[in-house]
Amino acid sequence: MKNFLRIFLITSLVFGISVKSNSAEKIEYLTTDWSFKGLFGKFDRGALQRGYQVYTEVCSSCHSMKYLSYRNLAEKGGPEFSIAEAKAIAASFEVTDGPNDDGEMFTRPGKLSDKFVMPYDNVKAAQAANGGAYPPDMSVLVKARGGGVDYIYSLLQGYEDPPVGMSLDDGVYYNKYMYGNKIKMANQLSDGLVEYGDGTTASIEQMSKDVTTFLMWAAEPHLESRHQMGFKAIVYLIILTILVYFSMKKIWSRIETEV
Ligand code: HEC
Repeated sequence: MKNFLRIFLITSLVFGISVKSNSAEKIEYLTTDWSFKGLFGKFDRGALQRGYQVYTEVCSSCHSMKYLSYRNLAEKGGPEFSIAEAKAIAASFEVTDGPNDDGEMFTRPGKLSDKFVMPYDNVKAAQAANGGAYPPDMSVLVKARGGGVDYIYSLLQGYEDPPVGMSLDDGVYYNKYMYGNKIKMANQLSDGLVEYGDGTTASIEQMSKDVTTFLMWAAEPHLESRHQMGFKAIVYLIILTILVYFSMKKIWSRIETEV
């Protein structure tokens, strides 16, 4: 029995240590106080609007967001631009439409119902412009990567000089958080790169947080109504529990007095 205990203790200790050292090898992502996390989490409208600005002014020259339409920008639960603002945003883009009666394609200002314009005509053109790498569509990128928002938030801030001895080809950059540490996207952010309309200081950290919040909303536009549903369900369950408790008490009290 003593021996058994000893073996059990030793194996669990070894197992525990190996599990621990495994998890120590995992990269620790940076994180921040995401407003949308947790049962009552909501998007921060300011962050969504600023994030849209960062996406448009910086990321959209390479990354598409093909599932978003301009009208989504005015919908409830999103950045909630006013309809007039969303219309103005749409109209600031040139959209290819057609063919017209002469059989020709033409361009016109965007409308609310248009999808976000794509930076490139096709995947090959995108790869040709980016040293062979394809800038992934960002509509659901948050969901497509393990680590989600923390990963993207970290990646944007993860550019560093490569360790001594590591040589990088042209167009390849060292990033602490990229798988294999090599990425074919140059550092995109620098302090003060955009000028926020609401006066927020556009630090690298702030822009990373804002654009990642925007990407989270794009990937999960119904997050707020889902959270509300969850909250209602819990309130309902609590009321139901109280009702069941009191009716049970009532039923049993009658039986006890009859006995
Ligand atoms: C000059 C073009 C360009 C711009 C601008 C750009 N990216 Fe990229 N991005 C790329 C390319 C190319 C890749 C693919 C890199 C690779 O596979 O090595 C990429 C990959 C990524 C990835 C995915 C990494 C992965 O896990 O595969 C994320 C996240 C990302 N970009 C975010 C952004 C954000 C946010 C912005 C705006 C702040 C932005 N990018 C601006 C070209 C660009």
